[in-house]
Amino acid sequence: MTPETKRTAFWRVDGSCPDPEIIRRAGSVLRRGGLVAFPTETVYGLGANALDGRAVESIFTAKGRPRDNPLIVHIAGIEMVCRYAGFVPEKARRLMERFWPGPLTLVLPGSDKIPKEVSAGLSSLAFRMPDHPVALALIREAGVPVAAPSANLSGKPSPTTARHVYSDLNGRIDVILDGGPAGMGVESTVLDATGDVPVVLRPGGVTPDQIRETAGAVVLDKSLADGATAPGRPRSPGMKYRHYAPSAPMVLVEGDRARVVEEIRKLAAGYAGRGKRVGVLCREESRDAYGGVLTVPAGAVCDHASVAASLYDALRRFDGSGVDVILAEGVDPRGLGLAVANRLRRAAGRIVKAD
Ligand code: TXA
Ligand code: MG
Repeated sequence: MTPETKRTAFWRVDGSCPDPEIIRRAGSVLRRGGLVAFPTETVYGLGANALDGRAVESIFTAKGRPRDNPLIVHIAGIEMVCRYAGFVPEKARRLMERFWPGPLTLVLPGSDKIPKEVSAGLSSLAFRMPDHPVALALIREAGVPVAAPSANLSGKPSPTTARHVYSDLNGRIDVILDGGPAGMGVESTVLDATGDVPVVLRPGGVTPDQIRETAGAVVLDKSLADGATAPGRPRSPGMKYRHYAPSAPMVLVEGDRARVVEEIRKLAAGYAGRGKRVGVLCREESRDAYGGVLTVPAGAVCDHASVAASLYDALRRFDGSGVDVILAEGVDPRGLGLAVANRLRRAAGRIVKAD
């Protein structure tokens, strides 16, 4: 069966107090090997029973995801990690107690209790306990760990609403649970906690400074060095793919705010002169700075959380807008800005430094 032939059910649920009957039906779809998209506090996930290799395999088909990119196992309590991880190092346990439920994924030693489709053959396994009433109720109801990547077609921006999921995966999955917009808007921090010093493989909702407070020390994977789009071989397989990308090519302009706006104006004039339709991904403060071109604002300059929350929706809005090229304002990579800057870099085909 091709992935497009399923009838996808779209069920609305209260995001803070989900109807137990709907959760019961969705849990039973998961237990029977089906695919259920659900909201989390970061982005929407596409879940399958992590103990069922065939169900997990069908996630890769539905998303068009490369088979070598492992999935995160979503659990509803620390005891589930103890049951399915090979081993839980002391530092990892402290991080779970401090940050779960929440946007921190911990890479731990794997075990043969979870089928190899989940870890894509790696000896480690990633675990996360999402901080969302619908996600937690669904995992508890299913009674099994739930393997779930973001619920988008591979390469597209992650979905922050059920509508985004529908537009990418309608006809390919069994159920979409619409619990309202995901709060944070960027994915969890992926942290390798298998060694003495934890390593950030993907920046996200929990910042390196917060991790340092609990773990004593933390380092960033080499592929996250300033300006790097992922040279060499990142330790998180997913980080080697271009990702989060709108259909039109995107040029990211980084540097001092005033210089960034000036540089984008110049680039826009150049593209327009060559007959190209230009779109600008900007901040609220600069939405009127680029007369005559389509501007899509995502958040405010000093409020990284507001940029994170609206970034993927803004990127998706360029699809179907008819623009030939997108010029994007960079963000200051501090705090949560590190995650936002990382996603912008990975979505961009070219990065220009404005200072
Ligand atoms: O916030 C999130 O993390 C969302 C929600 C749905 O939980 N999920 C998500 O999943 O973003 P996905 O599959 O789109 O991204 C998971 C990332 C990928 O970059 C993958 O390579 C990495 O985690 N990953 C998974 N297992 C790993 C492992 N054992 N070792 C290293 N990286 C791993
Ligand atoms: Mg993803």
